[in-house]
Amino acid sequence: MFKPFELETDFNFLVRKRYSCRTFNGKGVEAQKLQILTDKIDIMNENLKDIRFGIVDKEKLKSKFIFSKGTYGMFRGDIYYIVGIIKKGIPFGWERFGFYMENLIMLAEEIGLNTCWIGGVFDRKGFGSELNITEDEIIPAIVPIGYAAKKRSIQDKIVRWSAKGDKRKKTEELFFLNNFSTPFPSHISNKINDTLENIRLSPSASNKQPWRLLFKENRILFFIKRDRLYSKLIDSVDLQRIDMGIGLFHFIYSLKERGIKGSFITENNNYQDKSLEYVISFKFDNMKFL
Ligand SMILES: Cc1cc2nc3c(=O)[nH]c(=O)nc-3n(C[C@H](O)[C@H](O)[C@H](O)COP(=O)(O)O)c2cc1C
Repeated sequence: MFKPFELETDFNFLVRKRYSCRTFNGKGVEAQKLQILTDKIDIMNENLKDIRFGIVDKEKLKSKFIFSKGTYGMFRGDIYYIVGIIKKGIPFGWERFGFYMENLIMLAEEIGLNTCWIGGVFDRKGFGSELNITEDEIIPAIVPIGYAAKKRSIQDKIVRWSAKGDKRKKTEELFFLNNFSTPFPSHISNKINDTLENIRLSPSASNKQPWRLLFKENRILFFIKRDRLYSKLIDSVDLQRIDMGIGLFHFIYSLKERGIKGSFITENNNYQDKSLEYVISFKFDNMKFL
């Protein structure tokens, strides 16, 4: 269900290289690099089936739909987009979408491109029509790819400042041992600390960082800290579940690089706090946290 596609670059490096780029240089992307991404997308599409991706040229979209701007306001110089589509109602659809789009973002980053998740307001109809979207499908998010301009636009600076894009919550606010009042002690394992740091640095919609991890013996239980007001903003797309998928990608890829093995399970969960929504657990083959 969550099987990452191989990257050639050290993942710690890529996680720290990536940031949300909202001001591109307007020169697009070389044909050769578009081809590299298209080849990866073809392989992914073949494997995933109920999730598919494609590359869309926004200029073409604009010429087809006179009133379409594609995206609104804060983006400059953006031309090419990775567009992702899922079948409505599939199990773990939002999480899997987040997982594989983040995988593609990292593939774009490793060939020197800049990126930005866009899950908010954009011309979903226009982008969808470029990939022949059907009634039972939806576009959860799109990602511009290109090269950053030398200077950030004012709108870019404002968005970055308001989302506090450079900041992240402290580890003790995200990772817990046995219950949500005991922060996960950092001395338990260096191997896992590295992995947790890569989750903490993941991007998330409006930088809400909804991942909450509860360590229990040989398992980690993943919860979403729900922001009810925020969840209602775009009711057809569950952005916080997409965030969870992104966090899961950072988690699984970091484990893979360190040779740590295990598998996903779902378990009954009677945790009482309504703002915490259980998603999935990961059971380690050879690790325990007591
Ligand atoms: C699912 C998702 C949707 C997002 N939607 C938007 C968006 O619509 N517009 C935007 O400017 N940034 C969007 N972002 C980018 C976040 O604001 C950004 O990741 C966060 O502030 C952290 O900054 P960083 O990516 O530079 O680390 C989105 C991010 C995610 C993960």
